[in-house]
Amino acid sequence: MAHEYSLIPKKVPRVETPFRRIVTDLPVPQSLPILERLHACEPIAMRGQPPIVWHRAEGFQVYDAWGNRWIDWSSGVLIANAGHGRQEIVDAIIAQASAHLLTSYCFPTEIRARLVEKLVSILPDPLKKVFLLTTGSEAVETAIKLCRTHGVKSGGRTKNVIVSFDQAFHGRTLGAQQAGGIPPLKDWIVNLDPGFIQVPFPDGYRTPDTSFDLFTHTLRENSIDPSNVAGVILETYQGGSAAFAPPAYMRDLRSWCHRHQALLVCDEVQAGFGRTGALWGFEHYGIVPDLALFGKGISSSLPLAAVAGRPAVMDLQPPGSMTSTHTGNPVCCAAALASIELVLREDLAENSRRVGALLHRKLGALAARTPQIGCVAGKGLVAGLACIVPHTMEPDADLACDVVLRAIEKGVLMFSPVGYGGATIKICPPLVITEAAILDSVAALEEAFAESLHK
Ligand SMILES: Cc1ncc(COP(=O)(O)O)c(C=O)c1O
Repeated sequence: MAHEYSLIPKKVPRVETPFRRIVTDLPVPQSLPILERLHACEPIAMRGQPPIVWHRAEGFQVYDAWGNRWIDWSSGVLIANAGHGRQEIVDAIIAQASAHLLTSYCFPTEIRARLVEKLVSILPDPLKKVFLLTTGSEAVETAIKLCRTHGVKSGGRTKNVIVSFDQAFHGRTLGAQQAGGIPPLKDWIVNLDPGFIQVPFPDGYRTPDTSFDLFTHTLRENSIDPSNVAGVILETYQGGSAAFAPPAYMRDLRSWCHRHQALLVCDEVQAGFGRTGALWGFEHYGIVPDLALFGKGISSSLPLAAVAGRPAVMDLQPPGSMTSTHTGNPVCCAAALASIELVLREDLAENSRRVGALLHRKLGALAARTPQIGCVAGKGLVAGLACIVPHTMEPDADLACDVVLRAIEKGVLMFSPVGYGGATIKICPPLVITEAAILDSVAALEEAFAESLHK
């Protein structure tokens, strides 16, 4: 669980670099009335957010209203792939809004046609039909529905098992949470659906055995007959750690799903649109799933999500049976089209690969001299630093929280630590970040670690 941040302003050293400026106490005293209004009217669950009140965000930088400026290592929460506040996206949103078409469902629009056509044109075979939604969780719910519909049609009502992975995060709605692999997040559900099962994720760190045998062995141990599996869903990389599975494991999983008529679903809500140094995260595995789920970075801004899949699967549900009120909202479609255009035109996947290589080199060097960093995972412009008690595997959430807070105080913005034991520092800047800004922000992270370990 994220911890709650203090609202008592703290004197912090002034910072001035080409990319960062901190000129006030933090949280900013003048921002307290805003934070207090939020505390008064929002549930406690909203208090896991660092108390930095955003005023404006551009490219890879975030500004408050009191003169402070951060390098953003959050992208919101992996949203702003094409950069914050891009003029092309702003213009597209304004043009669509000015056309006085703000909503349309249940009626078709030309801009919705343009967006699904665009997605189909850049996705590999067989992902050639697309259903638009609003949130990543909705996309996950739709995938679960399609897996079970496909399973029941091809194998009868016992073919309903959804296999997912330990430590997975797929969203907070009922089905998405049950596909997730973080037990405390499911406590409230009480009556868990027995058709959801998790297997170890082959990250090579917390699960040293990365062989595909572990997958089949875990199913056997849980008395799951492969013929009853309707679908296997995984985050292309695990959001909580930024860990990828080995490509060989994924190729075996792809074949296993074919063999047992189970759908393979890649949840690309974080991994899509260039984040990992490839346009689609699953490219790193040399496989294509039956269904791919998108959200976050699809628009770099307004809420939009998508399920892309094999036409035979996408067409399983009859007319009117997959709906959501804001499906394909015209203004969100305009934002997504503009963002996708930027990702492609500026080859931001390549920038992510190139600048990400520098980021990972620097993080690797930091980890090599810091026994409190157990592992650095990720590819491209996503990284996870697992904080541990040295020479153990025990997560150190206090260290991770302290480092994040100190980095924020130095002008590098991150969200609260995530993942196993809440001890993973996640780094995921907009894909337009430059090498100079990476070097500047890593320097701040190094200082934050040094101060935290020697305080
Ligand atoms: C991999 C993954 N899937 C699904 C979701 C849920 O998306 P949303 O918060 O838009 O419902 C998230 C959100 O963090 C995610 O990281």
